[in-house]
Amino acid sequence: MLLGAPVQEGTRRLGCDMGPSAFRAAGIVGTLRELGHDVIDRGNLAPVAAPARAHSNPAVRSLAEVVAWTELLGEAVHGAAGEGMPITLGGDHSLAAGTLTGMSRHATELGRPLFVLWLDAHPDLHTLDSTESGNLHGVPMAYATGQPGFEGIFPPLAAPLDPSRVCMMGIRSVDPAERRTVAASGITVHDMRAIDEFGFAALLRTFLHQVEAESGLLHVSLDVDFLDPDIAPGVGTTVPGGATFREAHLVMEMLHECGLVSSIDLVELNPFLDDRGRTARLMVDLVASLMGRRVLDRPTRSY
Ligand code: ARG
Ligand code: MN
Ligand code: MN
Ligand code: MN
Repeated sequence: MLLGAPVQEGTRRLGCDMGPSAFRAAGIVGTLRELGHDVIDRGNLAPVAAPARAHSNPAVRSLAEVVAWTELLGEAVHGAAGEGMPITLGGDHSLAAGTLTGMSRHATELGRPLFVLWLDAHPDLHTLDSTESGNLHGVPMAYATGQPGFEGIFPPLAAPLDPSRVCMMGIRSVDPAERRTVAASGITVHDMRAIDEFGFAALLRTFLHQVEAESGLLHVSLDVDFLDPDIAPGVGTTVPGGATFREAHLVMEMLHECGLVSSIDLVELNPFLDDRGRTARLMVDLVASLMGRRVLDRPTRSY
C-alpha cells in the first residue's frame, strides 16, 4: 500500500514535496509488482490548511503544518496497516511522527510490541524545546519515544515506543542535546564507529532476533542520508561516511529474510538535488531488496 506524503515543512530546503513523484517516476509500482506483490497506490495525501501555531521556542518552524500531517498520516497509516504493508513515500522525516502514530495504534490493537529500525545519519531526537534549527524533521523520534514537551500539541500515541525496542544505524551527526538523550534514553544507537568495528550484519542480526523473540511488528524508517552522499546525492542533509551500496542492500535483504517488517518510511528524497534520478532509483532498488529481490535463491535464512 503506497501512501504519498509530500511534506516538506519539516525542513528549510524546498524540494522534498516532489519525493513521491520521483519514487513513482523511478518505477516503484512496477518494481514491486514484478516481485509478485499486489500494489495499491493511494496517491498523495494532503492535510487541510491549519492556522499557524506558536511555540515558546521561537526557532520552531511550521508547527501547525507538521501536527496536521501527523494527524492525517496517523489515520491513513493505521487504516493501511489493517489491509497490508504501508509504504509511505516522503516527504521529509517529520512524517515519521505520523506513520509511527498509526503503527503504534495498529500494534496496540493487535497486542503486539512495535519495534523501529531507524536508518539515518541523524537520530532525530530533538524535542520542540531543544531544537536549535527549528526544523521539525529533527524531532520525530523524541515524540515517538515519549520525550517531554509534545503533549497537548501533537496527538497522543496509543503507546510511546519503548526505547529498548528502537535500533538506530548509520548515525554520524548528533547535536549536543540529542547526545544527552541517547545516553539517558536506552535507545540502541549504532553509530558509524560501531558499524565500522562490528559490521551491519552482526548488529542487525541481534536486533532482529529481539524482534522475533517478542513477536514484534517492525517499522523501518529509511532516511536517504543513511546512504553515503557519493551514491545518494538527492538529499538536503548530506553527511560524509554513510552506508555503502553493498551495506545498504545487505541490510534490506536481511530485513526481507526476517519476515517481520510491517511498514516502511522512505524519506528525505529531494529530487531537486538529485542527479538524473539516481538517488530515487537507488531507493527503489533498496525497497526491491527489502521486498524480496534476490541475486540467487537462498535455501535458508542466512541471519
Ligand atoms: N539535528 C539537525 C537538526 O535538528 C539535523 C536533523 C536532520 N534530520 C533529518 N531528518 N534529515 O536540524
Ligand atoms: Mn532523519
Ligand atoms: Mn484498527
Ligand atoms: Mn537524516
